[in-house]
Amino acid sequence: MSEQLPAAAGATAEPALAGERVHRLRVSGTVAETHDARSIVFEVPVGEAERLTYRPGQFLTLRVPSERTGSVARCYSLSSAPHRGGDLKVTVKRVEDGYASNWLCDNVTEGMELDVLEPAGVFTPKSLDSDLLMFAGGSGITPVMSIVLSVLERGTGTVSLVYANRDERSVIFAGELAELAAAYPDRLTVVHWLESVQGLPTAAGLRALARPWAGREAFICGPGAFKEVTAQALRDLDVPSNRVHIERFVSLSRNPFEESATGEAEAAGDAGAEGDAAPAALEVELDGQRNTFAWPRSKKLLDFLLENGVDAPYSCREGACSACACRVTSGEVKMLNNDVLEPVDLDEGIVLACQSLPVTDSVSVSYE
Ligand SMILES: Cc1cc2nc3c(=O)[nH]c(=O)nc-3n(C[C@H](O)[C@H](O)[C@H](O)COP(=O)(O)OP(=O)(O)OC[C@H]3O[C@@H](n4cnc5c(N)ncnc54)[C@H](O)[C@@H]3O)c2cc1C
Ligand code: FES
Repeated sequence: MSEQLPAAAGATAEPALAGERVHRLRVSGTVAETHDARSIVFEVPVGEAERLTYRPGQFLTLRVPSERTGSVARCYSLSSAPHRGGDLKVTVKRVEDGYASNWLCDNVTEGMELDVLEPAGVFTPKSLDSDLLMFAGGSGITPVMSIVLSVLERGTGTVSLVYANRDERSVIFAGELAELAAAYPDRLTVVHWLESVQGLPTAAGLRALARPWAGREAFICGPGAFKEVTAQALRDLDVPSNRVHIERFVSLSRNPFEESATGEAEAAGDAGAEGDAAPAALEVELDGQRNTFAWPRSKKLLDFLLENGVDAPYSCREGACSACACRVTSGEVKMLNNDVLEPVDLDEGIVLACQSLPVTDSVSVSYE
């Protein structure tokens, strides 16, 4: 029998906002991965599997109950691999004084139900047959684990992983990675960096480790300082920026579960001062449907779509998470803010709908 969230924790029987992209999922179990990290495993309800499919490296947005604010929204990468089927797993590492991470580690138990938004994100390899150079710092291992499993078990690529942690007991998935390295000795190399032994990761140290694999497409995920030092190491090795994918683990400041999509869009108002310029002709492909619209020049794409009844995906609405990412297949848009897409994404025509205004007279976008 499923357990409802305790009322004191701010649970509500009301359907959450954020359109049809919210799923109420039952927790099938939790796993203590280390002293400060716990995986939460969700059952995929019958009939919702298609909407909950994901690519390795993508994330879920969880609604975490709060007595103070009703809830907060936080993103957690899927550490499970899509080809293995079955349940969805996210892995949460406690952040000192953090609200949601500690709430999830302390309170989530089997049978509990949580609201989540559908998988999203662009931190995902184009091909599982490519050779990859991956860097993970602490909880940054979660999307990396999904990608490693997918490449090894479903592709033909090889992976070299540099994995940094504070100390040995903090290494999430240590056993699973060791087993994979033993099972795929020619295709997986894991190099651990322990702060307790080697000190904080340095650009020079990472550069030396990464040099043999510098020609590969690179993926970086971890705390801000780790990301900076790793990106520097890759620049020193002349790895072009359009070969480097980066996932930033930030907390959302807005909450798609509490805000009315169109109310917020109205409150946000128009984003530019384009005067009487004629609207752009917009073609949108989403969920297998193609629609056309006249898109006002000063209206952000996501706001416009939501106001017009299109159930477009989103989470933060501030250019920080990539849940709203779509591909411009013709025409041009400009983004007002972009804290998440890298040159490698922009080169592929990926944009953030929540930050995009039309530039050309006609624009076509596609959600994949
Ligand atoms: C794409 C993406 C993927 C991510 N993947 C992972 C992952 O796989 N694993 C992982 O561990 N992390 C991941 N993160 C990071 C994660 O989303 C959170 O940022 C992280 O867990 C820290 O959140 P926190 O609430 O614990 O900490 P903070 O955000 O630092 O918490 C403090 C904040 O909570 C507020 N707060 C305090 N008390 C309350 C209260 N009672 N009610 C409401 N608000 C309160 C405070 O005002 C403050 O703003 C990911 C982030 C992104 C963007
Ligand atoms: S919704 Fe987060 S970047 Fe657009």
